[in-house]
Amino acid sequence: MEPFLDIDLPLPDRRDGKVRVSYALPDADGEGRRLFVTTDRLSAFDRIIAGVPYKGQVLNQLAAWWFAETADIVPNHVVAVPDPNLLVARAATPLPVEVVVRGYITGVTSTSLWQQYADGAREIYGHRFPDGLRKNTVLPNVLVTPTTKGNDGAHDVPLTVAEVAQRGLVEPRRWGEVVEAAIQLFQRGQQKAAEAGLILADTKYEFGTAADGSLLLIDEMHTPDSSRYWVADSYEDRLAAGEEPESLDKEVVRRALLTAGYRGDGEPPALPAEVWSETTRRYITAFERLTGTTFEPGAYPVPPRIMENLRHVPV
Ligand SMILES: Nc1ncnc2c1ncn2[C@@H]1O[C@H](COP(=O)(O)OP(=O)(O)OP(=O)(O)O)[C@@H](O)[C@H]1O
Ligand SMILES: [Mg+2]
Repeated sequence: MEPFLDIDLPLPDRRDGKVRVSYALPDADGEGRRLFVTTDRLSAFDRIIAGVPYKGQVLNQLAAWWFAETADIVPNHVVAVPDPNLLVARAATPLPVEVVVRGYITGVTSTSLWQQYADGAREIYGHRFPDGLRKNTVLPNVLVTPTTKGNDGAHDVPLTVAEVAQRGLVEPRRWGEVVEAAIQLFQRGQQKAAEAGLILADTKYEFGTAADGSLLLIDEMHTPDSSRYWVADSYEDRLAAGEEPESLDKEVVRRALLTAGYRGDGEPPALPAEVWSETTRRYITAFERLTGTTFEPGAYPVPPRIMENLRHVPV
């Protein structure tokens, strides 16, 4: 099966992210709408590595589910989901920071909490850490560790919560709202994940400003792309055995790349086919466990199906 990698729609103002393609949609009230197409592209180390069948659908539908489950905490950009890979959203001006929230000390990349701690750092992202912490264990408090949003392939730069306002990246009162919302969203995420037998170890949120100036949660949320999910019932045994948690996210890909000697520079190496079939399986498992529904795979190829479903979107 060929993954869904790209689309060309007859709509204005195309923007390309690593995973999503978006276009402007006209709307009646003039507030501005964007159409997001979630592709099967998989990014790691801030680069597009490969395409994984059904990944786009899982991301789009799982994010939509989470947005609905958390709309009481903070308003989000969802307007409609007219196709498994499409989202009609309220247009927003994204804040220039990614809001990372962590419940566990983990990670394999150089900016991860665990890698910095293992390298001897005890003051990380403005937070103090005691000696003797073990990898993949729960943190005493949920931590917010913002980064700048690296555009055009630039890597994200870590910031402290205080620096975001000090540097004028976000207006202080608005930043306070964002941090408060992010912690509440993460706690809701951990609670729902626990009900599904999963651990939400960490995640990343993006916020934006709507046309009327209000705060909006945008982009995606609590997907295996933006979050680390671990299987709860094998967690303790694996930790005790010194093994990595069973993860339902793209950590498997990150690890396979690292094993192949890749650190994010230059062409990524080819990985064995099982890495990709396993990744599809993990993404679908996460979707089914969290939503409690069966994943209904959409028809491939995806672009003609999207064209058909777009006819029902008011433009
Ligand atoms: N409602 C919105 N209005 C305007 N821009 C948005 C909205 N929601 C998300 N975006 C932006 O659209 C883009 C989504 O594309 P995508 O997720 O592929 O981005 P990316 O950040 O480059 O990729 P990655 O997720 O791998 O970091 C992001 O730049 C995001 O900030
Ligand atoms: Mg993104």
